[in-house]
Amino acid sequence: MNRVDYLRISLIDRCNFRCQYCLPEGAELDYILRQELLTHEEIMTLLKEVFIPLGFSKFRLTGGEPLLRPGIVDLVTDIASLPAIEDLSMTTNGFLLSSLAKDLYQAGLKRINVSLDSLNADTFKTIIGHKKADLWHQTWLGIQTAYEVGFDPLKLNVVVIPGVNETEIEALAALSINKNWHIRFIEFMPIGNAGLFSDRAWVPSEEIREKIRQKWGLIESNIKGNGPADVFKIPGAKGTLGFISQMSECFCDRCNRMRLSADGWLRPCLLNETGQIDLKKLLRNGIKTTEIKEKVAQLLVIKPDINYKQRDSGNDTGIYNRTMSQIGG
Ligand code: GTP
Ligand code: 5AD
Ligand code: SF4
Repeated sequence: MNRVDYLRISLIDRCNFRCQYCLPEGAELDYILRQELLTHEEIMTLLKEVFIPLGFSKFRLTGGEPLLRPGIVDLVTDIASLPAIEDLSMTTNGFLLSSLAKDLYQAGLKRINVSLDSLNADTFKTIIGHKKADLWHQTWLGIQTAYEVGFDPLKLNVVVIPGVNETEIEALAALSINKNWHIRFIEFMPIGNAGLFSDRAWVPSEEIREKIRQKWGLIESNIKGNGPADVFKIPGAKGTLGFISQMSECFCDRCNRMRLSADGWLRPCLLNETGQIDLKKLLRNGIKTTEIKEKVAQLLVIKPDINYKQRDSGNDTGIYNRTMSQIGG
């Protein structure tokens, strides 16, 4: 059984993109009201008095889009200065990185994962659901800025969607050759926009690897991150290629993480709401953090039974109560 020591903290459910695979098409989301978001102080209290004492040492800040949270740099500064933090990272869409990367780095954030599903500005527009504005160049500038500022490793996440960005696999993989960038290909999960999930809405990692193997060759790397990616390398490349294969290969049994939603629900599994605890309610009702810690400890004990037991056929219906943007990926 895996040790659970990694907490993904969603800081806000709002996002400035509307990625097709993340948000339900056309639907308006009920955003969390500001007073329902965990406050800066509540997040710090939970980390200091609940999660760190329970052995959590790796933290990832997510959204929606985490950079939309007011006071994000101060929050990073405070989390980074806590003792016993082995790893502090963020998953962002990169749009605001060109102005924030330097401050975030100086505040103590040392690594970052950015979503980049296409190198083509028009395809990018389609994927992120902004038909008019060209947001690709701003996102690309954000990625370049993060690299120049020193974020290492810099990981780029690509959700592969048949008929949309599948033809760009080699061009995206090539970004790992000359720079120490880590490109990760993610099998599309049937969550959020289930309509996109037709007969063949996800491309198996092995099919992606085969394309890359044909062009350059591919070697398995023994690098293991904190996440579910299997890591490979193009021979001689400076960076790596990661494959996140939640559809073709279940990695639930090696799950090492829990998720804290922006409104304070602690969720033991991305795809399963069983067992979740409303930590914000406990805090705001004045329950002692020693008691909250005890409840989380009990949840950790039953987590292996809650972990989503993977579909074997890919015929999952994708009916979950929250979208990826609300859970934080
Ligand atoms: P590091 O390897 O530590 O850099 O992070 P990571 O890959 O865990 O983080 P990231 O936010 O970049 O996650 C990338 C993608 O992996 C997510 O968008 C999901 O598609 C997938 N993923 C991450 N965690 C889980 C999980 O617990 N279960 C499932 N099914 N998929 C996950
Ligand atoms: N399937 C797989 N990955 C997804 N992400 C968002 N929605 C999905 C989905 N349905 C990924 C994004 C981003 C991360 C936060 O979640 O690519 O990198
Ligand atoms: Fe926003 Fe990320 Fe969802 Fe895209 S995948 S809509 S960037 S939260």
